Amino acid sequence: MTSPKPRVVLGVSAGIAAYKACELLRRLTESGHDVTVVPTADALRFVGEPTWAALSGKPVSPQVWDGVAEVPHVRLGQQADLVFVAPATADLLARAAHGLADDLLTNTLLTARCPVVFAPAMHTEMWQHPATQANVATLRERGAVVVEPASGRLTGKDTGPGRLPDPAELFEVARHVLARGAAGRDLAGRHVVVSAGGTREAIDPVRFIGNRSSGLQGYALARTAAARGARVTLVSANVALPDPAGAETVAVGSAEEMRKAVVEAAGSADAVVMAAAVADFRPAGYRGSKIKKTEGAEPEPIRLVKNPDILAELGRIRRQGQVVVGFAAETDDVLANGQAKLARKGCDLLVVNQVGENLTFGRPDNAAVVLGADGSRTEVPRGAKEALAEVVWDLVAARLERTPSDVRQGEGR
Ligand SMILES: Cc1cc2nc3c(=O)[nH]c(=O)nc-3n(C[C@H](O)[C@H](O)[C@H](O)COP(=O)(O)O)c2cc1C
Repeated sequence: MTSPKPRVVLGVSAGIAAYKACELLRRLTESGHDVTVVPTADALRFVGEPTWAALSGKPVSPQVWDGVAEVPHVRLGQQADLVFVAPATADLLARAAHGLADDLLTNTLLTARCPVVFAPAMHTEMWQHPATQANVATLRERGAVVVEPASGRLTGKDTGPGRLPDPAELFEVARHVLARGAAGRDLAGRHVVVSAGGTREAIDPVRFIGNRSSGLQGYALARTAAARGARVTLVSANVALPDPAGAETVAVGSAEEMRKAVVEAAGSADAVVMAAAVADFRPAGYRGSKIKKTEGAEPEPIRLVKNPDILAELGRIRRQGQVVVGFAAETDDVLANGQAKLARKGCDLLVVNQVGENLTFGRPDNAAVVLGADGSRTEVPRGAKEALAEVVWDLVAARLERTPSDVRQGEGR
């Protein structure tokens, strides 16, 4: 017997980014989901009913008065496994936050008991307005996943936060949320910081000392945390991957830049996961112009100095109740080195993995042992980097649960 297709209601409200929802719809139907599109009346001004009906293979209506015999205003929400609204306009967020039921989409949102995801898209001013932010906070408090908009080109010539994330990334959010079901939003209301990629330490304007980190593990951590409901700050060093939907991505280059961005974001975070490969050393002096090759002369040696130890600093300055997670990339004596690093850095969890030229870096899979300061030891067999990310968040969520919320809310750094 084949298992029934997961039922998804794709809500579309009247933003210019409605056209991007066509691509999301395509990805959902092609990967075996049963999708009913519920646009708002104004959304149909941007993308018409025939497009949604043809792509989903189902009739489409924005209002409660069509097909009344089947009571769609109640049935759609009750039967859905996921309601995903993309784009979510400022107006739709306001109506949802206040429990209005003046069209089919808002009725569906009130009757749904499955996970609900909103992917807002609007101009920066609308997004940052206290009214919109209050509505977003209300929806998050009620357990909805509200994906942070991306930063970039908006409708006109202006740029800023408010852009609908890439449909491929939205699809990843939908896939994760569906896979975890209603219990999956255990990081709702939390702010987490993830670092990813590898830092580059400049020698001169052309050359740098870098490392092989691709950022795949950090991006998997950011993506899975967002799907579990967290507000995510992703501090990303030299990564050639699309920004994960739902994460606020801060691009940095060197270890010093990473330190600044991570420490700043950590000030309001419930958890910090340092998955980035941060250079231990940097050239002692930066040469302002390209070092030239001189015929007949050996090159001058490059003297190195130590970089700041970000993980140890996070261990020292952590807010009360904050969970700090480090990664140890080791080539030899993997576990012994990991245990020693855990003790040295003062973090709660250390993800220890073996790295090498064809191991881990740039590969979609990983295997690790997660060591806990409480003596715990969790073996994660080789599998997708997302699977390791989920285990890390399980362990973080369990530790956050032990922290009373009044302590978490407190000032105290
Ligand atoms: C060209 C154009 C683009 C718009 N883009 C957006 C947008 O991206 N986000 C948004 O919140 N509102 C946008 N609006 C305003 C909404 O369409 C308007 O608030 C509408 O009433 C929302 O209806 P709905 O929430 O029922 O779909 C846009 C309006 C126009 C005319």
